[in-house]
Amino acid sequence: MKNLKAILQRAPARTMLAGALAALALAGPAAAQDKPKAEVMHWWTSGGEAAALKVFADQYTKAGGVWVDAAIAGGEQARAAMVNRIVGGNPPTAAQFNTGKQFDDLVGQNLLNPLDQAAEAGQWKSFLPPAFIEAASRDGHFYAEPVNVHGQNWAFYSKEVLDKVGVSAPPTNWDEFFAAMDKIKAAGLIPIAQGGQPWQEHITFATVLLATSKEAYEQTYVKQDPAVVSTPGFKQAADVFGKMRSYVDPGSPGRNWNDATALLITGKAGVQFMGDWAKGEFKAAGKQPDKDYYCQVGLKGDQLIIGGDVFVFPKTSDEGQLKAQALLASTLLAPDTQLLFNIQKGSMPVRKDVDATKFDACAQKGMKLLADPAHQVAVVDMVIAADLKGALDDVVTKFWNDKGETAETFTTQFGEALKAAK
Ligand code: BGC
Repeated sequence: MKNLKAILQRAPARTMLAGALAALALAGPAAAQDKPKAEVMHWWTSGGEAAALKVFADQYTKAGGVWVDAAIAGGEQARAAMVNRIVGGNPPTAAQFNTGKQFDDLVGQNLLNPLDQAAEAGQWKSFLPPAFIEAASRDGHFYAEPVNVHGQNWAFYSKEVLDKVGVSAPPTNWDEFFAAMDKIKAAGLIPIAQGGQPWQEHITFATVLLATSKEAYEQTYVKQDPAVVSTPGFKQAADVFGKMRSYVDPGSPGRNWNDATALLITGKAGVQFMGDWAKGEFKAAGKQPDKDYYCQVGLKGDQLIIGGDVFVFPKTSDEGQLKAQALLASTLLAPDTQLLFNIQKGSMPVRKDVDATKFDACAQKGMKLLADPAHQVAVVDMVIAADLKGALDDVVTKFWNDKGETAETFTTQFGEALKAAK
């Protein structure tokens, strides 16, 4: 229950209303009464996300179902609303979570339907990456359906801005990086377009940590070893992250990730550290990789943080809902759905039998790394529980937003948060 509480506590109070509002959406058109009706809760509300979500809705409709959309902006708010609905006995047909541990307590409380039948019918084990099978299963049973692979440690650069300041390619070490940021600053533009929410600041920190030392990244998130904070790798990452604070504009706190992407799209800012869902925004704005923007995995392009999205199917014995869940489960992973959805979403398919040539240049880079386990690490949410993730978010965000805080204080507090979870 600790994790459910962590999820609920991190969302603003208005989320409580969201559950009730989403419930209203259940009243669908009378003419569609006999069709399997799926109310699907998710947080895909940006332009690119909505375009991707539409693929799911259209494919489900084509397969004979009725899609009832229940979108709630913001991952934390959405997850809290979903948990409220599920725990409160008024669950949606399906709900989005990140691939990993966020739904641990829902499984523990017996609030989700196992998906073994759907997994067997769709032969999920024949194509899902082993790490994703593990992340979606508990005690050998599937409880979640992975729908994509999102690379989480991308650096997106505005080509217009780099061209303007005479930088011909994305930097590949921290000295080059800060030299480029200085030039952008001197030109009166925003060097780093940072979205101002704890989870976004943590993405930037995790990206910096991995780019600085893979060993330190794994010791931090996979082993959750408090001693990591005394290693040179962690310390250097803390210094770099701390230094980045002076390259961010005053509008950053509270900013949505897609508004940060918009700063790149409109040529106002140089770089954004974000998952590849940001690519969906470039796509929706008609922008192309290498022509309008650069996409670089971390600093050197050699290590990809992998994660993604799953849908869980809350427990129900209602025949109609069970039918809707089964139809939804087979639709989301169908090869044609995977192709169309992931192209819009900016993510990579979770199936290997999807035509990779249809994806853009950034996805090609990601898929190359995805094919080799030596070039990838798991995203934070896949390896640590929701309550520890929340505690680390707090430490990261405090450092990021308090320019007076030293890297030493940050590393001490990060170590203490890891220790407290032991
Ligand atoms: C999800 C993405 C989503 C992003 C921003 C992430 O947690 O995995 O699918 O696009 O949040 O909303």
